[in-house]
Amino acid sequence: MYLYEEIFANNEQWIAEKLAIDPQYFTKLSQGQSPEFLYIGCADSRVTAEDLMGAEPGEIFIHRNIANLVVPTDANINAVIQYAVEHLKVKHIVVCGHYECGGVKAALAPSDLGQLNSWLQTLRDVYRLHQPELDAMTDDKKRFDRLVELNVQEQCINVIKTDHVQKMWYKTGFPKVHGWVFDVRTGKLIDLNLNMEEKFGEIRKIYDLKPMN
Ligand code: CO
Repeated sequence: MYLYEEIFANNEQWIAEKLAIDPQYFTKLSQGQSPEFLYIGCADSRVTAEDLMGAEPGEIFIHRNIANLVVPTDANINAVIQYAVEHLKVKHIVVCGHYECGGVKAALAPSDLGQLNSWLQTLRDVYRLHQPELDAMTDDKKRFDRLVELNVQEQCINVIKTDHVQKMWYKTGFPKVHGWVFDVRTGKLIDLNLNMEEKFGEIRKIYDLKPMN
């Protein structure tokens, strides 16, 4: 772990490294952003979005919270999705979960966690939705991993339930929505290959927000 003062020394070094490659680096960076990706991931300190994707500043619009949840009443995530879709016009939205997620683990063991209770309720709801599959698993570790994957799937569904995404789909066919899992045990990024267009077909009877005219 760095000492507090070291962080600022590291920053100076990082600036020097960037400028050595391109003296105009920060001038260009200050002129604006046009990322093609919105990444919604866990706040876990081990899951650093840019590092694991090999991305540079300016390339990914990022939102992180505990257990990568897309809660419909969360003003923060709603603003992030709306801005990314309507203004940045991102081509892709990624929900990225990760194995060994503390939030998911907590949701598997019911207990009073104070302020976290309402946040984790969304995860417990994912468990309830998929309880037959999860409870049939005899291996606790596999059940934990599976809930991580199912949570990503359900949060992708929450993304496509939003009017912001649906409006843009009807206009342009974008953004594509993807579910990924980062395996913190190996460093590997796994695409769950969820077909969200097909998923929308299954749920549109209930969630289609296309204005009627
Ligand atoms: Co996590």
